[in-house]
Amino acid sequence: MSHQNILITGGAGFIGSNLAVALKTARPERRVTALDSLRRRGSELNLPRLREAGVAFVHGDIRNPEDLAPPREPYDLVVECSAEPSALAGYDGDVRFVINTNLAGTINCLELARQCRADVLFLSTSRVYPVARLNELPTVEEPTRFAVEDETGIPGASAAGIAEEFPLDGYRTLYGATKLASELVIAEYRHMFGLRAVVNRCGVIAGPWQMGRVDQGVFTLWALAHHFNRSLKYIGFGGAGKQVRDLLHVYDLADLVELQISRLAELDGGLFNVGGGLGTSLSLQETTEICREVIGRKIEIAGEAATREGDVRVYVTDNAKVTAATGWRPQRSARTIIADIHQWVVQNEAAVRQALAS
Ligand SMILES: NC(=O)c1ccc[n+]([C@@H]2O[C@H](COP(=O)([O-])OP(=O)(O)OC[C@H]3O[C@@H](n4cnc5c(N)ncnc54)[C@H](O)[C@@H]3O)[C@@H](O)[C@H]2O)c1
Repeated sequence: MSHQNILITGGAGFIGSNLAVALKTARPERRVTALDSLRRRGSELNLPRLREAGVAFVHGDIRNPEDLAPPREPYDLVVECSAEPSALAGYDGDVRFVINTNLAGTINCLELARQCRADVLFLSTSRVYPVARLNELPTVEEPTRFAVEDETGIPGASAAGIAEEFPLDGYRTLYGATKLASELVIAEYRHMFGLRAVVNRCGVIAGPWQMGRVDQGVFTLWALAHHFNRSLKYIGFGGAGKQVRDLLHVYDLADLVELQISRLAELDGGLFNVGGGLGTSLSLQETTEICREVIGRKIEIAGEAATREGDVRVYVTDNAKVTAATGWRPQRSARTIIADIHQWVVQNEAAVRQALAS
């Protein structure tokens, strides 16, 4: 069965808007609705492109159950993309927003799905894996990056990345904790109410239309700084920019989501690590090098040795499970991702400057 009436919460955000446009473009006969509170600075820039793609927009807040009343024509799929997605959220002492959005808000979305008898696709995060455990992985320092050793002695951890068996004990930031708690509630809804759901624990997703900022959206931040000639800092792990993330093009994620929803009955209950994988991973130093080549500007980058709370030295996704289940694997390289982000900045320079570069 192909879903015909889809709600995307956080639908004006980076991932939500890209998924909304992709799902609508792939099958124009579908009804796709994006709901968003427009809390994130810059998400209003996505409204014209949602409109042009034929995606309906609802201004709403998932913290308010009344904003999530079932429509006359019930949704058949809810894709939950709304969040406070910063790993630093709550460290300033203001914990309410991240908890009320990422956990209580998700439960409101599940209630809507239950009332509509809709399926759910939930965007979770690699941040469910505990910080200290990840930073305990044995690494070697290479010229431009830290690399995890082949043998780690830890289940679900190898040079190929982090798999779903990785231990879950330990602190993980409030962002990761609220996402993991939501995963647990989804498991209960499946058991209690027969809700069908797929969960993707995503590593870093990157690409056009991400409103990158220092605590979230690092690859956009890097491209923006190079384009607008602003300075940057390598923060943490000695300040040399050797920390590593894999990155997945948001279009690759959209391909996976289309595949997953087309096979939702079969994949129901699936929980997958999803990311660019080792072949599409970059250290900050390597990101700088690609930005210099692609954008053609060298900017000043200082080092700050002290590591921020909750930061991780190396995170790379092991995609083995999702690839085995679906056949999907990432198609777009790290260089393509940076080039696509830069092209987006160039094509939308005035708006991007106003929203992000001040
Ligand atoms: N971007 C990544 O690298 C990444 C990685 C792993 C997981 N994820 C997950 O993917 C999802 C989407 O992330 P993103 O990168 O698109 O973030 P984003 O900040 O670009 O998008 C989130 C959207 O949710 C909206 N929002 C926030 N609180 C809301 C509320 N209470 N009610 C309604 N809307 C609200 C924001 O205005 C924003 O438009 C999140 O659940 C995030 O945890 C993202």
